[in-house]
Amino acid sequence: MSIDFSDNGGFETEEPLVTTSLTRDDEGEGSLRPKSLGEYIGQEKAKGNLEVFIQAAKMRGEPLDHVLLHGPPGLGKTFLSACIAREVSGRGFSVVYDTAAHIFQSFESGKFGREGLPGEDPEREIERCLHCDLLIMDDLGTEMLTSFVQATVYRLVNERLLSRKSTLLSTNLSVQELGRRDGEAVLSRVQGEYGCLVFFGEDIRLLKRDR
Ligand SMILES: Nc1ncnc2c1ncn2[C@@H]1O[C@H](COP(=O)(O)OP(=O)(O)OP(=O)(O)O)[C@@H](O)[C@H]1O
Ligand SMILES: [Mg+2]
Repeated sequence: MSIDFSDNGGFETEEPLVTTSLTRDDEGEGSLRPKSLGEYIGQEKAKGNLEVFIQAAKMRGEPLDHVLLHGPPGLGKTFLSACIAREVSGRGFSVVYDTAAHIFQSFESGKFGREGLPGEDPEREIERCLHCDLLIMDDLGTEMLTSFVQATVYRLVNERLLSRKSTLLSTNLSVQELGRRDGEAVLSRVQGEYGCLVFFGEDIRLLKRDR
């Protein structure tokens, strides 16, 4: 059992709980990131469903279901992911929170023995992505599709399912597009095992610009 939302299920980890490459990419938006789910305003349906997933996990005493957030750009998927990361890491669990493109880069560097970005050890990044309690992979589908990327998506989805470690994927792709891109084996696992939160509405970036 990985993410345990019961009161006594937490454990301390020596790893940093939240990786920052995603917030680094996204710096201009970072200051608006909420601290907890309760502070997230809007997308009531997605948020309500997520709360149901969290309650169900608590009741079963089991990890959070795997979750797919999908919808068009600018609707708050990254923002909500940040809320979840804070909520879960605040309970003492290890959370890796990163863009898909950066995760694939680490896997590629690890496989081909290349150096990672300054200060990064690709082997360690891979270990963390495979074994952390909650992996949040943001912007899946924005990376260039290669057979290596396809194999890595499958590996992450499959290994984490088997080891019952929670995974949250965030993407602009529909489930069908994800299947077309990453293959039927990924599609089957996502359709069968993931809770799906659909985002819709107006692009908040454009709303902010026009304010
Ligand atoms: N609930 C919210 N309250 C206030 N601001 C929000 C909220 N959700 C998102 N935002 C702001 O809206 C903008 C877009 O949000 P975000 O980056 O999370 O969208 P996204 O769905 O991840 O987009 P993309 O698919 O392009 O990655 C950001 O500036 C973010 O800070
Ligand atoms: Mg985003």
